[in-house]
Amino acid sequence: MVCLVMVQKSQLFLLLVFIIFSAIAAETENQDYVALLSLKNIWQNTPPSWVGPDPCGKGWEGIGCTNSRVTSIMLSTTGLTGPLSGDFELLSELQTLDLSYNKGLTGPIPRSIGNLKKLLNLILAGCSFSGPIPDTIGSLQQLLYLSLNSNYFSGHIPPSIGNLSNLLWLDLTDNQLNGPIPISDGITPGLDMLLNARHFHLGQNNLSGTIPPRLFSSEMVLIHVLLDGNQLTGSIPSTLGLVQALEVLRIDGNALSGLVPSNFNNLTNLNHMFLSNNKLTGPLPNLTGMIFLSYVDISNNTFDGSDAPPWFPTLQSLTTLIMENTQLQGQFPVALFSLPLLQTVVLKKNQLNGSLVIGTTHSNQLKLIDLQFNFISYLEEKEAYNGTLKLEDNPICGVTGNLSSYCTVSLSNASYSTQKVDCEPVPCSSNQISSPYCRCAYPYTGTLFFETLSFSDLGNNTYYNKLEESLMHSFHSHQLPVDSVSLTLSNPITASSEYLEVKLKVFPYGQVSFNLTGISSIGFMLSNQTFKPPALFGPFYFIGDKYEKYTESKKSSRSSIVIEVVVGGSILLLVILLAGIYVLHTKKRAERAIEHTSHFSAQLDKSNKGGSVIKVKGVGWFSLKELEKYTNHFSVANEIGSGGYGKVYQGSLPTGQLIAIKRAKKESMQGGLEFKTEIELLSRVHHKNLVSLMGFCFEKGEQILVYEYVSNGSLKDSLSGLHGSRILHDP
Ligand SMILES: *[C@@H]1O[C@H](CO)[C@@H](O)[C@H](O)[C@H]1NC(C)=O
Ligand SMILES: *[C@@H]1O[C@H](CO)[C@@H](O)[C@H](O)[C@H]1NC(C)=O
Ligand SMILES: *[C@@H]1O[C@H](CO)[C@@H](O)[C@H](O)[C@H]1NC(C)=O
Ligand SMILES: *[C@@H]1O[C@H](CO)[C@@H](O)[C@H](O)[C@H]1NC(C)=O
Ligand SMILES: *[C@@H]1O[C@H](CO)[C@@H](O)[C@H](O)[C@H]1NC(C)=O
Ligand SMILES: *[C@@H]1O[C@H](CO)[C@@H](O)[C@H](O)[C@H]1NC(C)=O
Repeated sequence: MVCLVMVQKSQLFLLLVFIIFSAIAAETENQDYVALLSLKNIWQNTPPSWVGPDPCGKGWEGIGCTNSRVTSIMLSTTGLTGPLSGDFELLSELQTLDLSYNKGLTGPIPRSIGNLKKLLNLILAGCSFSGPIPDTIGSLQQLLYLSLNSNYFSGHIPPSIGNLSNLLWLDLTDNQLNGPIPISDGITPGLDMLLNARHFHLGQNNLSGTIPPRLFSSEMVLIHVLLDGNQLTGSIPSTLGLVQALEVLRIDGNALSGLVPSNFNNLTNLNHMFLSNNKLTGPLPNLTGMIFLSYVDISNNTFDGSDAPPWFPTLQSLTTLIMENTQLQGQFPVALFSLPLLQTVVLKKNQLNGSLVIGTTHSNQLKLIDLQFNFISYLEEKEAYNGTLKLEDNPICGVTGNLSSYCTVSLSNASYSTQKVDCEPVPCSSNQISSPYCRCAYPYTGTLFFETLSFSDLGNNTYYNKLEESLMHSFHSHQLPVDSVSLTLSNPITASSEYLEVKLKVFPYGQVSFNLTGISSIGFMLSNQTFKPPALFGPFYFIGDKYEKYTESKKSSRSSIVIEVVVGGSILLLVILLAGIYVLHTKKRAERAIEHTSHFSAQLDKSNKGGSVIKVKGVGWFSLKELEKYTNHFSVANEIGSGGYGKVYQGSLPTGQLIAIKRAKKESMQGGLEFKTEIELLSRVHHKNLVSLMGFCFEKGEQILVYEYVSNGSLKDSLSGLHGSRILHDP
């Protein structure tokens, strides 16, 4: 009863596995099995351990089950390649899907994602998915954690996300999303309905329009609102002041204008505030009473010229004050220096004048005072201060040729790199890297992107040491075989408008490389934020690099399978036939599974029509029964040609797509092997002037090929007589 198509070379093996096991698995819960096999068929680099009839039994790496049903798929950083399609919607008990950091995963997210009704965690960060985020995502009612950051998604944020009333975490950072931030209007939902959400991470997109006042309300429990690096306009809504829990606010790098709302300092839990690089006007915001504020950047706005505001000395947690180009005037506010935690003061490009008195009461953490481009003419009591002072382009450095160090432009070049631990460096072979304990291994690598920080003294190693400790603690408390980590600061930021990037290397314990389980578990720990960095570090995301060691070794094992397949070609074919017979005898459930699969192939073909990445990669399984349906039982009316080889029929898929079906006559049938060869050949040639093969049927003594229907007259010629390898038709 099964007819299978393979349109991709080297997939015979998968085909075979599919037939045999779809039969066997029919005895048990097989819809998960069918779903995984279809993914295996579409993706490259699926775990080699995905063999055997039971994904919930032993050995299927990356698959987690509860009561014999698949509830988690965790394949972070495993080098998967291909589209997210196939029968995955059959995984109806799936709760966690983590495919993060697989740069080879491409194409759109299919609408059928909405069928995974039990999904709690959907993590696709750091892949190459594109196209719009399907609105069906709004039917994942249980979803807690949605992380789609760092892909190529475009189009609008679907309003249906507002339907996800349990959602805690929404991360769409670093995509190409445009249009407005959706809010509800009584008919369509919107993000204002996400009353349980703690995180709106929507930065680094092309969102436009205003920040809707309705987006925020006093019922919200948001702690992180990141809207930086978009094209938002209009003013900051005063409703933002109602979100009492807010700790981190980044709305910098937009085109926001107007006044900062007067209730802003009602946000008393705010730690990190970025309003920089907008077009804000009016008086400087009043930050009185914001006692937890540690990092403030309000640079590059067009505030009214004003003296240093009286609230400066009241911000007792302040480590970093960045007010470049904010029209400050008058005397430098020396009182600032008495703040106990202060590390960085950047007040460059203002109109501060008179003398600068550093004094002796300043915080001993103070490391940078940047006052370039002001009107400072005297400097007093500098002796007690040993941090960096920048006064270029002030009268004090002026024409007289003052050669003091504070007058020479110096680039800050904070750097950090984990030190070796009391050991002799060893030379490592090829791609191996020496760990902090001087052991050569293949580390898992990637980049931590910290969206905000509580500190700005990037040269202070204690912060990175704390980060290393907390990483190790987290790996060990999750029983991961990690020996050590090493960090490297890769882009020291000065005035923080970008994210701090820290390269991470994770070295395996007691072995030279991680196995797949190790890799995907490390990936998951970082992709679902199980790892919590020390409080000094703000919100972050991680992007893993491809784990070369793992994909290297997999390639060779796959190609050896391919060789076996080629060698054993005819034996395999025999087995296919036997398996086909066996399938005939399986129960209803198997039929259901196969039906699903055919449905999938139809779908896949449809998605291919959309001009997506994999042209006719589609694997069409057509049953004779289906083809009968599509051709009105091979009716005469559907005949569009005939000849020595047999007949060609026109048919249409349930999707409406037209197909041409070439049905061989008994006399002109080829041997099974030739038939297989023809299919393989056809599957390999794709050209715009060729009729594309969509699938085949090899059942009940029939040999049928299914092609895309091409309406121009040459189709008939293309299909007549010639064996498929030459079904060229005129351009
Ligand atoms: C929102 O959820 C309800 C069920 O709770 C559903 O009926 C509705 O279609 C969903 N709307 C969208 C836009 O997904
Ligand atoms: C400030 O917050 C308090 C609650 O902490 C609230 O009662 C008050 O209305 C808020 N003021 C403004 C102007 O939003
Ligand atoms: C700033 O806010 C504080 C507390 O809300 C208030 O007492 C003070 O008058 C405000 N200052 C200005 C200049 O508006
Ligand atoms: C302010 O704008 C200038 C010019 O666009 C830019 O170079 C600088 O980095 C900005 N400063 C901050 C703190 O964002
Ligand atoms: C992967 O590595 C872990 C830890 O080293 C080990 O416990 C596990 O058995 C390994 N899995 C496989 C499939 O080899
Ligand atoms: C990440 O996964 C772990 C383990 O499943 C879970 O305990 C944790 O709550 C998850 N974190 C988030 C933010 O969902």
